[in-house]
Amino acid sequence: MQVQIGKRRVAHRTVAFDPSRNQVKLIDQRLIPHRFAILGTRDHRATAQAIRDMVVRGAGAIGATAAYGLAQGARLFRGRDLSRFERHVAEVFDLLHAARPTAVDPFNAMTAVRRVMRAAQTVEEQQALALMAAEEFADENVRECEAIGRHGAKLIRNGTRVLTHCNAGWLAFVDIGSATAPLYAAQAQGRRFHVFCDETRPRCQGSTLTAWELAQQGISHEIIADNAAGHLMQRGEIDLVMVGSDRTLGRTGEVANKIGTYTKAVLAARHGIPLYVAIPFSTLDWSLRAGRLIPIEERAADEVLCAVGVAISGAAGRSRDRGEKAWPVPFRVANPGSGARNPGFDVTPAELITGIITPAGIFKPGELWANRRGLGFVAGDKRKVPVD
Ligand code: MRU
Repeated sequence: MQVQIGKRRVAHRTVAFDPSRNQVKLIDQRLIPHRFAILGTRDHRATAQAIRDMVVRGAGAIGATAAYGLAQGARLFRGRDLSRFERHVAEVFDLLHAARPTAVDPFNAMTAVRRVMRAAQTVEEQQALALMAAEEFADENVRECEAIGRHGAKLIRNGTRVLTHCNAGWLAFVDIGSATAPLYAAQAQGRRFHVFCDETRPRCQGSTLTAWELAQQGISHEIIADNAAGHLMQRGEIDLVMVGSDRTLGRTGEVANKIGTYTKAVLAARHGIPLYVAIPFSTLDWSLRAGRLIPIEERAADEVLCAVGVAISGAAGRSRDRGEKAWPVPFRVANPGSGARNPGFDVTPAELITGIITPAGIFKPGELWANRRGLGFVAGDKRKVPVD
């Protein structure tokens, strides 16, 4: 997407790769909307750390980052011994896979890269194929988001008021986004509508990332406190809920997404408001048989106990380096000494979901399994995803 940096408007992908430096290039999402910076990871360990620290986040974006990270790690191997190389690649895979457990996209992305690599018989050829396959995953992610936009745009009419949760925008993918793709496509078709962004405590991806994206794109929007959605629904001020997913079960249609999605789905059902989930194929998990088996990431208590931001005025709002805007810093909000529980995701049951917008069209959650051949299901895929 186009980003306004100072006076320049520049096209950026969330995730890219620099082959000459063997670096994964990431927009540092911890700084947005206060600063715009690209971070290059020097090796696959640093790439895994960037996923853990949420320099890059969002299912599609960490999928592409893991794919590039696998290629990066493969390219760092020296020698010609294929079985040693394969052991090394397996270690890189496990390291990247362990970085964040809930989204299935990293597993699917790296599995796709490894499948392509196996066509070659030498280390050198496999290294070359790894990068090609990672690039292909990233490009395919963009094409799939475009297709989601084409299918989903018809849900947005002039005047539609859309509620989003977290960030399922282009920052959560390589480009364009999943839940934002129908918005961007509808905007390109000349429709005017309004978006309410849930702030999405504790990390506030809605108020920081989604709001920044929509502002960059000139889409009318307002941030609401997470607790305000029910009130707006009750007053008839929300027509449609559109979210992304970190893992959607192909067998049951259950959707894991950012904590609070389930709450919004219950509220939407109570008020007869349609709720759509937008996903590329890499978010589908054809293996797990029940939503309760999805590993739910528990994050640090500090995310709940603190808020991250910049001071709003005066000298404290400026950093000392070159007079630029301040770096975002954490502030303690909660009672000193109190602890916190911080599950990062929840699972929404299929019956609360109106439709799943995929690159192949819009399906009811219960229709995914019957349509699996057209939705990227690979027969005989052996999973080793932790399920507890
Ligand atoms: O913890 P995050 O910011 O990685 O969580 C992201 C979300 O939950 C998004 O809504 C999700 O990834 C769907 S869009 C890729």
